[in-house]
Amino acid sequence: MADVTIRALKNGPYEVTGGAKVTDQKRGEFKGQGDPIYLCRCGQSANRPFCDGTHTKIGFKAEETAS
Ligand code: FES
Repeated sequence: MADVTIRALKNGPYEVTGGAKVTDQKRGEFKGQGDPIYLCRCGQSANRPFCDGTHTKIGFKAEETAS
């Protein structure tokens, strides 16, 4: 299995690379997944768990760094 990496983008979603699959609580796989995958972390996407770009419209701010 490839190395999966999750990257917190500045003021945006989580970018997931490496072939990870996203499933629901019953392990059903969401359709239309590519690589990378962008997961919403602003909580406002109409296509959760995926990002739909709404974070830019609402001015979502998140600039965490690994220190
Ligand atoms: S992070 Fe993009 S819509 Fe939430």
